[in-house]
Amino acid sequence: MNRNLSTAEAIKRWDRFADTYASTHGEHGDIHKEVFLNPTIFSLAGQLHNKRVLDAGCGEGYLSRKLANLGATVTAVDYSLRMIEIARDRKSMELPIEYRQGNCEDLNFIEENNFDLIVSNMVIQDLANYKQAFQEMYRLLIDGGIFIFSILHPCFVTPNSGWEKTADGNKLHWNVDNYFYEGAFEQPLGNEEKIVLFHRTLTNYINSLMETGFSLERVEEPKPSKEMLEKYPSFEEDLRCPDFIVFKLRK
Ligand SMILES: C[S@@+](CC[C@H](N)C(=O)[O-])C[C@H]1O[C@@H](n2cnc3c(N)ncnc32)[C@H](O)[C@@H]1O
Repeated sequence: MNRNLSTAEAIKRWDRFADTYASTHGEHGDIHKEVFLNPTIFSLAGQLHNKRVLDAGCGEGYLSRKLANLGATVTAVDYSLRMIEIARDRKSMELPIEYRQGNCEDLNFIEENNFDLIVSNMVIQDLANYKQAFQEMYRLLIDGGIFIFSILHPCFVTPNSGWEKTADGNKLHWNVDNYFYEGAFEQPLGNEEKIVLFHRTLTNYINSLMETGFSLERVEEPKPSKEMLEKYPSFEEDLRCPDFIVFKLRK
């Protein structure tokens, strides 16, 4: 744990890690997005045709491409310049997606009341000032607009959480510790890089969203479906403890 790590440091690492990260992403993102996050996000988002959508923290852009393929006009921002370069390279000409480099904590180059829907997939835990990011999302939505975001589940993915294993590697149970710690911690991603994550409690997330003015419409803790378990049996262990939580809010 290291309270001095900032959004700027987190982005430096995303820049360095962007090519490796992008290499794990195809049409459906990576395997966790295919199994857990895409089904949840798209079922919460509803009809996308002619919707103006912001993909906040778009990474290499698979979600922007999916949204645009379903008829949305997409603005996509990421603070990592390298991610934006990759996303631009991966976009086909005809898709209505505009990629911009920007920090979700301050998107002052975008006018207020601009979007019907904002999606932010696995980004809010990567930035230091989540309250400011929520305020930005609120400012950018039209009245009645929807904000959907996914994060690592803050009750289970905490600094130093992980499986307790027997000597021969069997998973006994998932350990959680330091739940009330608020701030940055590092987590290995791949073999080369440690990314910076910011932990907050579930109450702080929910209270901040309400203080910003959002109404909570739905919360999901995605589990693998039967079909996904047939395709990827190793996800059986995710029926024991959720990795992710997804919020749907209305302005
Ligand atoms: C876990 S990746 C998710 C990317 C993408 N949403 C997806 O689902 O594939 C997190 C992304 O958030 C971006 N990011 C982190 N902090 C950000 C910030 N303050 N503003 C904008 N993007 C940020 C990173 O550069 C990285 O591309």
